Order: sequence, then structure tokens, then C-alpha cells
Amino acid sequence: MHARVLPLKELPGRAYWDDAYAQAERDTVLARNWVHVASGFELPEPGDALPISHAGKPVLLVRQADGTIRGFHNVCRHRGCQLVTAPQSRRALLSCPFHLWAYRLDGRLHKTPFWDPADRTAPEGFDPARFGLMPVATATWCDQVFVRLADDGPSFAEHIAPLARRWQPYELSLARYGGHATYEIRANWKLVIQNFLDTLHLPFLHPQLGDVEKAKHYVDVNEDDTVIGIHYLSGAVDKPKGDGAMPIFPNLPPALMRGQDIVVLYPNTMLEIVPGHILIFRIEPVAPALTREVISAYFVGDGATDPAFASARKDLLAAWDTLNRQDFAVVTAWQAAQVSPAAENQPEVSPVWEMSGAAFRGRIAREVRAREVGAR
Ligand code: FES
Ligand SMILES: [Fe+2]
Repeated sequence: MHARVLPLKELPGRAYWDDAYAQAERDTVLARNWVHVASGFELPEPGDALPISHAGKPVLLVRQADGTIRGFHNVCRHRGCQLVTAPQSRRALLSCPFHLWAYRLDGRLHKTPFWDPADRTAPEGFDPARFGLMPVATATWCDQVFVRLADDGPSFAEHIAPLARRWQPYELSLARYGGHATYEIRANWKLVIQNFLDTLHLPFLHPQLGDVEKAKHYVDVNEDDTVIGIHYLSGAVDKPKGDGAMPIFPNLPPALMRGQDIVVLYPNTMLEIVPGHILIFRIEPVAPALTREVISAYFVGDGATDPAFASARKDLLAAWDTLNRQDFAVVTAWQAAQVSPAAENQPEVSPVWEMSGAAFRGRIAREVRAREVGAR
């Protein structure tokens, strides 16, 4: 379990603040992998459209008539204006603000006002079928939306397989949205993730979670370098969560009735699961030293909506709000020191406490380095 010992500085300090590094990371980690970019509750109805910036590119997510979500490059095919600049609700067509080319929800080009080969206002042979919105590979899992910007790469099914396998005992189809909270953190997104994977700080920054022995009561998780983190052997029962009486996932084996996964789905989703809820943390890189975090809570069946559990739902997000505030002060201090050469010279990782962070950094470093080597 703790076999490999890796040096802590798989990543140089500039990985956390340098614009050139951030660009290399956008071109590799963020463009080539399936990245978590939105949640279904942000575009609940058919015809809802959500413009996002992903890996530095404008992308548009559109809820289809059949309830699925498709992604497109948010670029009008006429002269390349950004098509949708603010969230839209229940639209039948999406119109470009420049010359009003209009697209159907599935991306087909529907109308090109005063632009028609028949009266020679459009070039001869213009074929609207060739100028639909350009698709971006998009998938939905557990109400979360993932996109892969690169044209080629693994399928989403391949990407999610290690987590789907690991969480097979949980009947995820029962999970229902029950609230969310958004944070901005003045630190690089990779430090936010490493803080989530760091177990040694728990007794110091979060004394409410228990002592060092409790903090140590876990096994490392690493499924194919894609699901990386910690499984607390009794995390579901020995930490206060406020969801004690809520409905739980049925038919869980005894170990999972007590256990708690705290894992990262590479690259940018942090997850917590216990019998009564899933918390899904979307970690969005906004700028090298600015991260947006959206924590979404999912409960089992009626647990998400029954007024009897309203205070339990509130308490859960409140407990994480406290944890976050305890963490963010340190994460921003961690960020601030990365510019110093003194931050480069550190001891090797602890085989007990620090293997997950090392695995996460190791995969980032491999992917970014592969591009830097290839570029030479
Ligand atoms: S650029 Fe969109 S209609 Fe002209
Ligand atoms: Fe923490």
C-alpha cells in the first residue's frame, strides 16, 4: 500500500504561479483529460444554455429536449463571434448577437438572415449543414458535467471506470441534489486539491475531527492514478456530520457502512462519500493563483428534499464551510511561499501521511512534462 516513496517536489514552484506553466497545463492536463466543468442543476431545463471558459476556451453546454447535455465550442460559425455570453433559459434556438445566425439546441444551423445563395447574399453553394456548432466531447455522471476538449483520447466510460468500479456498491442513481456552496480561494487549484488529500493537518487545523490516531485511521486509495485519496475505515461513524438519521444507500457491506472515501477523481473533482451523502467538489482553475470551488451535496432519495432533514442538510454544508475556512488560510499561505527558492528544498514524502498528494503531483508532472519534451 505504501510501497513507493516519491520526492515531494514532483512539481516546481512555478507550477503554482507561472503563466507559461499554466498555459502548458491548459494544453495538457485540462485539454486532454475529461475535466469537471459544471453540474446538471446549473442548467436544469431543456433549452438551458451555460457558457463556460474551459482550458482558456469558450465552451457552451446545452440541455437538450431529451434531457441530455451536449457541449459545443461557443463560437458562431459565421465570423467567429462568441455565440452565448450569459446563461440562457428554455430557449428553442441560440442566436448569435452579431448577425443573428441561429442554431438549434443540437447545434444545427437553422437560420442565416439575409444570407442566402438563392439571392446571392451568400456565396454560391453555401451549405448550412456544414456550419453547425462544433461539438466538444461531453458526458454526465452523477449530475456532473465533464468535457474533453481534445478531439481524441479515452472515452468517458474508460475515464470513469476506476471510480465506477470502486463505488459499485453505492446505488448512485438514488443520489439527489440537495444544495451547494461556492468559494473563491487565492491559491492555485492544485494546492486546493493537495490540501484535500493531506491528512496530517487534520488534528492541527480541524481539531473538531478528532486526534492524530483518528486522522491516521485510513488506507491510501489509488485506482489507476485516476482515483487518488484516502479511505477512512470508520470515517462515516466517528466524525460528526449531522446526517445520522437520513436515508442511506441500501445494501452496503458493513465496511462501507463505517467507511468514508475522500478521493480525487483526476484531475479536478474532489469527492466525499458515506452511506448518507455524496459531496462533490468542483475545483476550477480561474487563474494561476485563483481557484473557484463549488461544493454540491447529494443525498439519498428523500434525504435531499424531505423537510424533516432540512437542518441535517444545512448542518453538513455548514460543517464543510467551517473546514474550508480553516483550510483556506493555510492554502493561501502555502501559495504565497511557492515563489521562494526555499520552497524547492523539502524532505521526501511521508509514506504514512503523504502518498496521495505525491500521486496527484506525479501525474500532473508527467502530463505537463510530456508536452514540454514533445515541443523540443
Ligand atoms: S458572427 Fe455570428 S452571425 Fe455573424
Ligand atoms: Fe483541511
